[in-house]
Amino acid sequence: MSIVQQLMVAGNETTTAALAEGMRLFATNPDQYKKIQDDPSLIPNAVEEVLRMSSGSSGIWRVMHRDAELGGVMLPKGAMVMMRYHAANRDPKQFENPNEFRVDRKNARTHMAFGKGIHMCVGNMLSRKEMTVSFQQFAQRMDNIRLKEGAELHYPPNMMLRGLANLPIEFDKK
Ligand code: HEM
Repeated sequence: MSIVQQLMVAGNETTTAALAEGMRLFATNPDQYKKIQDDPSLIPNAVEEVLRMSSGSSGIWRVMHRDAELGGVMLPKGAMVMMRYHAANRDPKQFENPNEFRVDRKNARTHMAFGKGIHMCVGNMLSRKEMTVSFQQFAQRMDNIRLKEGAELHYPPNMMLRGLANLPIEFDKK
């Protein structure tokens, strides 16, 4: 039951959030949307860039197995820490101009949206595929995606999951 529950939450909320974030990023970066429309071979990389900029999983808890130091802070064995994937994904040492959304970013796939190590997301290939197919459909069918005038976006407060509660958009039929 626990595994089924985890699959339902981990496999549903996260991908839903990532799809909406992709739509939001395309709506607010029309030049980048134009790029994937003109060259759909960029879409798999655009998926990685969406995950880097704004994945549905913002952080996760871990328990320290041994004493360690990080950035001058002592982390004692047994302490509970929260790794912030979102912070790693905007690390300027790793990503040039990290707050810019670039569908052709060369190292976009080095993000941490799916974690790392033995617990790395088991559904990563599935969600990557779902996002790729969805973005291909957007690009083929929707022109000029934009946020509705006066749209106010709302993210419910949550330490682990980050997803839009609403996304009012408009577009032209292609
Ligand atoms: C964009 C979509 C997704 C994101 C951002 C995401 C993110 C993550 C992250 C950050 C972890 C934790 C990794 C760690 O502890 O190091 C994780 C674990 C997991 N994810 Fe995903 N996930 C996504 C989609 C999915 C899908 C589609 C499924 C299943 C169909 C899934 C199932 C799981 C499961 C079962 C785990 C636990 C793995 C383990 O503890 O060994 N996830 N995911």
